[in-house]
Amino acid sequence: MTQPPLRQVVVIGAGLMGTSVALALGRAGVEVYLEDADPAHLRVAVSLGAGGPMPPDAELQPDLVIVGVPPSALGPVIAAALARFPQATVTDLGSVKAAALADATRHAPALLDRYVGSHPMAGSEQSGPLAARAELFDGRPWAVTPHPGSRPEAVEVVESLVAACGAFAVRMTPADHDEAVALVSHLPQVASSVVAGMLTTAAEGHLVLAGQGLRDVTRIAAGDPDLWTQILLANAEPVARLLHEAADNLHQVALTLEKLEPGSPSVEELRASIERGGTGVRRLPGKHGARPEEFASVPVILPDRPGELARLFADVGAAGVNIEDVRIDHSPGAPAGLVQLAVHQDVVPALLEALAQHGWDVHG
Ligand SMILES: NC(=O)c1ccc[n+]([C@@H]2O[C@H](COP(=O)([O-])OP(=O)(O)OC[C@H]3O[C@@H](n4cnc5c(N)ncnc54)[C@H](O)[C@@H]3O)[C@@H](O)[C@H]2O)c1
Repeated sequence: MTQPPLRQVVVIGAGLMGTSVALALGRAGVEVYLEDADPAHLRVAVSLGAGGPMPPDAELQPDLVIVGVPPSALGPVIAAALARFPQATVTDLGSVKAAALADATRHAPALLDRYVGSHPMAGSEQSGPLAARAELFDGRPWAVTPHPGSRPEAVEVVESLVAACGAFAVRMTPADHDEAVALVSHLPQVASSVVAGMLTTAAEGHLVLAGQGLRDVTRIAAGDPDLWTQILLANAEPVARLLHEAADNLHQVALTLEKLEPGSPSVEELRASIERGGTGVRRLPGKHGARPEEFASVPVILPDRPGELARLFADVGAAGVNIEDVRIDHSPGAPAGLVQLAVHQDVVPALLEALAQHGWDVHG
């Protein structure tokens, strides 16, 4: 289906997400106006080129109003936007959909046919407009969550937004969305916070040994505690259910370890619980929803010198190879890092040849 082009958009809440969406829409040629309760955030977002400050409402005719405020403020701001802009579709970027819908329904039950919730599955542990990036949504899934009363044209407008930001739309009900994010986002957040919290009492001498694995598991624990408290409160029941399941699984592993003896069935039980994790990871889709096994990982040693990463990317680009994903592993104290380039399987031979020609050390 071809989506209607967006002409003019208003973004209310110019923080990390709102400003990123505004930058992405500006990149796509859409006229964007910004509003924020915090004048400093608005100033920063405007100075980044994300859009203009709001003229009087009467001078605007937005196709779409995007609400990018914290979860606890969503309902009243969505309702006010529906009333202020009677011709516009209204969406929000909130991380939990059923609570936002219920709250908006309480505040503006008669206007809800122009509201369609949405949730870009991209973000950062940082907040505020300074952390915003136009390319945040490129190739990422973006949930679009109409309710039974949403107008079909309004759903199409929100799917236009998703396409204009370079993401792909995944349509689902608000309740189904909340079940899904409890597993793919909220459970990992709590697990990361719990593991990282245990570092607060670790001996300094033990932390020196920390490597990439610990950094991978704890990166998202640095997220904004206020935002995460609001998100978890809004999706408490599905998350609590999964946490009980995770706690049972952890308890089971602890019991297995306590009765572990070489050659006993408990060794096989332990192995099976680790193997189950590997099976789960292999089920995760890759970029654009592709199966991850379509990509190969090419590990390249990167000297710890300014400009080396740019030189590597330029050499890969000159070889006509598209980098689908990239990961950098740092070795603390070492004069080099390891860059894992994810590329399509069929370009690996050409890439290896080009890297060798340019003197890159391909690992393994
Ligand atoms: N941070 C993420 O990774 C992420 C990812 C997906 C979705 N989200 C959702 O996006 C929304 C925004 O999150 P964020 O990370 O951009 O937060 P943020 O703190 O960076 O930005 C929120 C902005 O809203 C403004 N604001 C607050 N109340 C307002 C009001 N009543 N009217 C106008 N402006 C108001 C704040 O001043 C701030 O600039 C949240 O609902 C969050 O659940 C966040």
